[in-house]
Amino acid sequence: MRRDQTIVLVVAAGSGERLGAGVPKAFVEVDGRTILWHALDAVTKFRPAGVVLVAPAGYEEQAINTGSLGIGGTVVTGGATRQESVARGLAKVPPHYAVLIHDAARPFTPPEQFERVMEAVQPGVGVVPALPVVDSLKRIDREQVVESVDRSNLVAAQTPQGFIARDIAQLYDAADADFTDDAALFAAYRGEIVWVPGSEEAFKITTPGDLARARQLIGADVPRIGVGTDVHAFGGEGNLWLAGLEWPGEPALSGHSDGDVVAHAIVDAVLGAARLGDIGTHFGTDAPEFAGAHASAFLQRTAELVFEAGYRIGNVSVQFQANRPKFAPRREEAERVLSLALGAPVSVSATTTDGLGFTGAGEGIAAYATALLYPIS
Ligand code: CTP
Ligand code: MG
Repeated sequence: MRRDQTIVLVVAAGSGERLGAGVPKAFVEVDGRTILWHALDAVTKFRPAGVVLVAPAGYEEQAINTGSLGIGGTVVTGGATRQESVARGLAKVPPHYAVLIHDAARPFTPPEQFERVMEAVQPGVGVVPALPVVDSLKRIDREQVVESVDRSNLVAAQTPQGFIARDIAQLYDAADADFTDDAALFAAYRGEIVWVPGSEEAFKITTPGDLARARQLIGADVPRIGVGTDVHAFGGEGNLWLAGLEWPGEPALSGHSDGDVVAHAIVDAVLGAARLGDIGTHFGTDAPEFAGAHASAFLQRTAELVFEAGYRIGNVSVQFQANRPKFAPRREEAERVLSLALGAPVSVSATTTDGLGFTGAGEGIAAYATALLYPIS
C-alpha cells in the first residue's frame, strides 16, 4: 500500500499494571519525555497519511498535546481490553485505507519497520513484523518440563500489524472471543497472514526492567556533554558585544545578531549535548526575533529548549581567543550575566594565540565551549 493511503492506529489506553508506575504506561517518562512521546515521534518519522491515537479515559487532553501528534491526528477514548481499544480506533479509519495497528508500548520501533509492514499489506492479507525466537522453548505442566518445542518455525510477533481497514474492522465488529493481537483475530476468522522482519528496537516495555532498558538505550540515565565553537570577523557596527557584555570603544564583530561568539558557542554546546541540533536549527533566518539579539535572549531560549527535552544544565565552560579586549577585569561580570541567562554556572576564560592565526592577526575572535547536561529523572 502507499504511504498516502496508510493510517497508523496507536493504542495507548492500557493501564500498565505490570509496569506498576502509578500512571498509565503511555504516560510514564523515559527521559523527561513519555513513552507515548517517543512512540509518536517514530510514527511521525514514518509520515503516514494520518494517526489515530487511542488514549485512556481522562487522558485524552494530555494525549492530544503530546509531542508530534500534529496535524491529522485524532484521539479517541480506549476500552477495557486492547481489543476493545483497537475496535474504537478502527471506527475512525476510512475503510479503503491501510491501517497499521501499533502498541504505544513499543516506542523505539524504527520507521523502516512501519515501511516494511505497509509495503506487504494487500486486500485479504494481514502483515506482522516478527523476530525469530532465540531461546530454547519448553512446554511445561506445573513444575514439570513436558517437552522441548522446535523453535525453527516459530517467531515472536511485534507491531505495527497491517491490514486493509475494511478487512479487519468487520472482524473486530464480529469478534466474540478475546485475542492477544490483531493477527490472531484476523487469522481466526479470515486467513492469510504474512510476516516481515521485526527489530530488536521494537521491544515492548512491559516490566520495570524493560523501562530501564529503554532508558539505557537512549542514554537517559547518563550525563551528556556537548561541544560548540564560533568565529566572527571584526567589521560590525557600533561597539563590541562579547560574553554577554558591551565593550565601549572596542571594534564590533560582524554577523547575525550581535556577533557574540562566546554566547553562540555556548548555545551550540548546550543544544548539541541535548541532541537538539545547533544554533541554526533554532535561531536561524526563520527566527527573525533573534536578529540583533544579545546573549541573554539566546541563552534563555536555549535553557527552555533543553528543559523541554528533559535535561538540566550542569555547567558550561567557554574560552575565547582574541588579542583584545582585556578580559580579566570584567570576567566576573560576564560570568554573572551569562550564568543568570542560562540558569546554570558559566565560566569564561580568554587567551591570545601568540600572534598566530586569524585571532593572532587581529582579524576576528574564536570561542570554544563545552557543556554538561543531566537528564531530569
Ligand atoms: N492497550 C490499550 N487498551 C487496553 C489495554 C492495552 O490500548 N485496554 C494498549 C496498551 O496501551 C499498549 C498495548 O495495548 O500500548 C499493549 O498492551 P500491554 O503491553 O499489555 O499494555 P498494558 O495493558 O497497559 O499493560 P499491562 O497488561 O501490564 O496492564
Ligand atoms: Mg495488557
